[in-house]
Amino acid sequence: MRECKNTAAIVLAAGKGTRMESDIQKQYLELGGKPLIYYALKAFEDSPVKQVILVTGRGETGYCRTEIVERFGFQKVSKITEGGRERYHSVFEGLKAVTDCDIVLIHDGARPCVTGEIISAAIEGAGRYGACVVGMPVKDTVKMSDDDEFAVMTPDRSRLWQIQTPQAFDYSLIFSAYSKLLSSEVYQTGVTDDAMVVESMTDRKVKLIRGDYSNIKVTTPEDMDLAEVLLRRNHMI
Ligand code: CTP
Ligand code: MG
Repeated sequence: MRECKNTAAIVLAAGKGTRMESDIQKQYLELGGKPLIYYALKAFEDSPVKQVILVTGRGETGYCRTEIVERFGFQKVSKITEGGRERYHSVFEGLKAVTDCDIVLIHDGARPCVTGEIISAAIEGAGRYGACVVGMPVKDTVKMSDDDEFAVMTPDRSRLWQIQTPQAFDYSLIFSAYSKLLSSEVYQTGVTDDAMVVESMTDRKVKLIRGDYSNIKVTTPEDMDLAEVLLRRNHMI
């Protein structure tokens, strides 16, 4: 594995959680007696990563400092910074807050089941390929629909992956790709992950590496039950 002395992680927790339809944002919902965001931070705390940047919603940095970082004693969280309107705005705020790093991992705080093995694989992949994302081959057939929800196309399933996080990059590569994205108005719609930014803003290829089907993103209410089962299985609860 490449030297991980200067590896940083950005943990995103600035989303509104609209699809969760809860009064409290999903990252702060209680799961096994702790806020959901705890589990991703714990995984990075116990990993070879040297610094963690926590990106929160507007006005939430104080709450996160006392109720999450200090309460649970996370030593690696070096900065807590406010995110922006879209995920990619939040990522860019995180990238700007990182200091002295050669590899950066970007992780959805809404993925509590990330493991040390997945984090190590992402660090190694970034060292080897410069850009890599964790994902898994899709299990279901996927269809493209038209505006009226009629099927128009069925891509070859054997080449389809569902993409997870962490997504891991050479810091200079991802910083320049995001700087280019944020200065261009053309490409900003529908940016849902970091690999897309590298794909559209640079000529570098992004390597897909296997994560785990358990590394789910808590998005809709039933995902909370699923996450609890998976965390128990991983002895995190
Ligand atoms: N995120 C963020 N800043 C945003 C939007 C999203 O930091 N402006 C983070 C979320 O907190 C989450 C991750 O990006 O950890 C993945 O986003 P998603 O699952 O879409 O979360 P939300 O945007 O919060 O949920 P929804 O799309 O249902 O509103
Ligand atoms: Mg969202």
